[in-house]
Amino acid sequence: MPDGVTEPIVEVHLTPPELRAALRRDVAAGLSSSPKELPPKYFYDARGCDLFDDITRLAEYYPTRCERSILTERAAEIARLSAADTLVELGSGTSEKTRLLLDALAAEGRLRRIVAFDVSEPTLRSAADTLAHAYPQAEVRAVVGDFEHHLGAIPRGGRRLVAFLGGTIGNLAPKQRALFLSEVASLMAPGDGLLLGTDLVKDVARLEAAYDDAAGVTAEFNRNVLHVVNRELGADFVPERFTHVARFDPDEEWIEMWLRSSKAQEVTVADLGMTVGYGRGEAMRTEISAKFRRSGVEAELGDADLALARWWTDRDGDFAVSLSFKE
Ligand code: AVJ
Repeated sequence: MPDGVTEPIVEVHLTPPELRAALRRDVAAGLSSSPKELPPKYFYDARGCDLFDDITRLAEYYPTRCERSILTERAAEIARLSAADTLVELGSGTSEKTRLLLDALAAEGRLRRIVAFDVSEPTLRSAADTLAHAYPQAEVRAVVGDFEHHLGAIPRGGRRLVAFLGGTIGNLAPKQRALFLSEVASLMAPGDGLLLGTDLVKDVARLEAAYDDAAGVTAEFNRNVLHVVNRELGADFVPERFTHVARFDPDEEWIEMWLRSSKAQEVTVADLGMTVGYGRGEAMRTEISAKFRRSGVEAELGDADLALARWWTDRDGDFAVSLSFKE
């Protein structure tokens, strides 16, 4: 490390064997349920992260661009309103969007500490090194964990802005969201802020196109979870035998992604000693991505004792970034 740059502190709360144990449990449960289901967090191995990166550049996938435009326009205001000296970022520790916030906090002269929280240790380590060099005035802490289990490991102290961007909260169903938000709130002190990115309800055709792009990148991303289960648990899924389905459920107001078995087939998961049958046309759910309205976000935040202070959208009202404060 060059002079003035402090080595990042990395805390591992989720080791590779623990991650694998969780995958075993989730796959065993998911393939035994009806309909079958696999959780979206397993999309993101190295290939899945690359595919997601490609998704963010697709013409159809508007959320990343919209959120970036909001943050570009509002970062200085967010830094001023939050008066934070610590940025805690949940998930995606590398993103350029975080840099917009960090630059704004640094410009206010208050930035003292950066906490990056992610499930992937390699991603987090390289992100933490990059951040330590870019912001030598800040102590960089990396916490490897799952945001559904290890939020308690986030260090206390300082005036914190917790950022959970990208619309990832939409991967949680309403009950899980309530739990998640109350846990986030419980680790915040009065005056700490939460910056939350949420995708908004809109025209169904645009929503579905964002999750079913013409080039088939999202389809490949969806099938990637099968490659992950093959590699990690010795399964013999043939990904090409599953077709990608994305549909908006107007009652739940969420996008669902499914993998539909194009024929009757059996799949063996060697490490689980499990064989599962798929009927022709049988669909397995791999993701929900909830879409929000201001009233719903405000109510969900309020239930967690977080008071909505600002609500910013892009010019077309496709995506929102909200700033709320712990009461
Ligand atoms: C990373 C969870 C925000 O739900 O839009 C993108 C993941 N899935 N295309 C989303 C995703 C299919 C994405 N999040």
